[in-house]
Amino acid sequence: VKIYIPGDSGAVAVGADRLAAKLETELNKRDLDARIIRNGSRGLYWLEPMVEVETKSGRVAYGPVKPSDLDALLDAGLLEGAEHPLSLGLTEEIPFLKRQTRLTFARCGITDPLSLEDYRAQGGLAGLTNAVAMPPEAIVAQVTESGLRGRGGAGFPTGIKWKTVLEADGAQKYIVCNADEGDSGTFADRMIMEGDPFVVIEGMVIAGIATGATKGYVYLRSEYPHAINVMNRAVEIARENNILGTSVLGSPHGFDMEIRVGAGAYVCGEETALLESLEGRRGVVRAKPPLPAHKGFLGRPTVVNNVISLASVPIIMDKGADFYRDFGMGRSRGTIPVQIAGNVKHGGLFEAAFGMTLGELIDDIGGGTATGRPVKAVQVGGPLGAYFPRELFDTPFDYEAFAARDGLIGHAGIVVFDDTADMLKQARFAFEFCAVESCGKCTPCRIGSTRGVEVIDNIRDGIEPDKQVALMSDLCNTMKFGSLCALGGFTPYPVMSAFTHFPDDFRPASMSQA
Ligand code: NAI
Ligand code: SF4
Repeated sequence: VKIYIPGDSGAVAVGADRLAAKLETELNKRDLDARIIRNGSRGLYWLEPMVEVETKSGRVAYGPVKPSDLDALLDAGLLEGAEHPLSLGLTEEIPFLKRQTRLTFARCGITDPLSLEDYRAQGGLAGLTNAVAMPPEAIVAQVTESGLRGRGGAGFPTGIKWKTVLEADGAQKYIVCNADEGDSGTFADRMIMEGDPFVVIEGMVIAGIATGATKGYVYLRSEYPHAINVMNRAVEIARENNILGTSVLGSPHGFDMEIRVGAGAYVCGEETALLESLEGRRGVVRAKPPLPAHKGFLGRPTVVNNVISLASVPIIMDKGADFYRDFGMGRSRGTIPVQIAGNVKHGGLFEAAFGMTLGELIDDIGGGTATGRPVKAVQVGGPLGAYFPRELFDTPFDYEAFAARDGLIGHAGIVVFDDTADMLKQARFAFEFCAVESCGKCTPCRIGSTRGVEVIDNIRDGIEPDKQVALMSDLCNTMKFGSLCALGGFTPYPVMSAFTHFPDDFRPASMSQA
């Protein structure tokens, strides 16, 4: 019998390692014939640690399971998938999972992350097998036609970025995978690197073949030690099996890669600061142009793609551009792994075709707030994303629809707040965050963020509030249009959306009490 307990750090954080150790002891004590597999997470984080047991009718889930529950579970017939108060039924039938369209995360939580055999058995390497037999231009065309856009946040068409690198002159080109997932409420990159690392590697190798790059780097944040371990091990296994090396899958293509670890700066998720850091310097933003596609790592043509963008490529190369672009709405094609977090009942990863509304995701899928109080606001797109009130919950998940309402999807993290949230404090936090994380290269961001905190404090304290509000919006305009990168340029989104949608919170404390 196979029993699955996630080794994912989100599950480990709530006791999965202790649970697995206790189960191992119990199985030995009872002389039961079962094997524990440490899979990735299914992304139903409120149910972690979630235990799954393979039965004739499919996997049966239990959760959240504590070590102290194991005795009773084994007595009730855990190995046969028997009923128990912690039973969740067949995993695939759990509504949160059943309603998803898992393309990128198809294997996550199902396979043993480091088993290449599992990976192949679940469709892995089919995309790369097709790609090695194709001319680079045809791979780029297929990715372009699929409509895939950068999942790191900016939504730039991946195929066009690849075409720029393919056509750039250069004896040496690079693929850089941006795994510096710094946005609040996001964990999709981490979850896939821990749960299905080979799909990231496969995507990088395909990107290499498509653009003529022979070397890749994953820039992985130091806050993700589990992902670093899994990715390092997966790279070794890929090398041993000719997925990496001088002859990828026996073809004339060569590609190798390594994992590089960041040092905790949010701005190093910005592609040019990332490249500086990768080259061994302090993470300071470079002016664009030149684009990394022309002059990137060590001045050579470089593809910088987010983890999820790269992990979405294998299925496109396997099933075809039309298959992928059939999902979605407008110019947002395919699926997006939405990460639901914050004060929410059912927090987790929900991969779906673009087009679901924010309201469906929060109320229906997320089940409202964990505290049971009304939802006041949601922040979409990380700390630089806008706060949306309930009145905007009809916004569909689509890059253009969010932009039309002065918001952004970003890396698709949603953080939910209940009615106790103070939006003035959230606006202050945005400026403060920018002040702490600013690389210091340009004035609007370096100085503006600190002045912003002061202005918000003045509004709070009732010091010339009208004048300070005008100053705040003027400052936001300067930051939006005068900053060199998105850190300074996007800080106005949370600030101004908080002010526009929740003006009551910006009245001086003395007035709102009156
Ligand atoms: P951008 O719009 O400047 O560029 C997007 C990408 O397209 C870049 O890789 C750029 O080099 C490339 N590009 C642009 N024109 C091109 C051309 N003609 N040919 C080839 N490549 C071209 O946006 P940026 O500054 O890279 O990213 C901003 C986004 O980052 C924001 O939307 C935000 O949501 C997101 N973000 C994500 C975070 C995360 O944790 N994933 C953290 C912070 C921000
Ligand atoms: Fe650096 Fe901020 Fe300017 Fe970006 S906006 S380059 S983080 S100072």
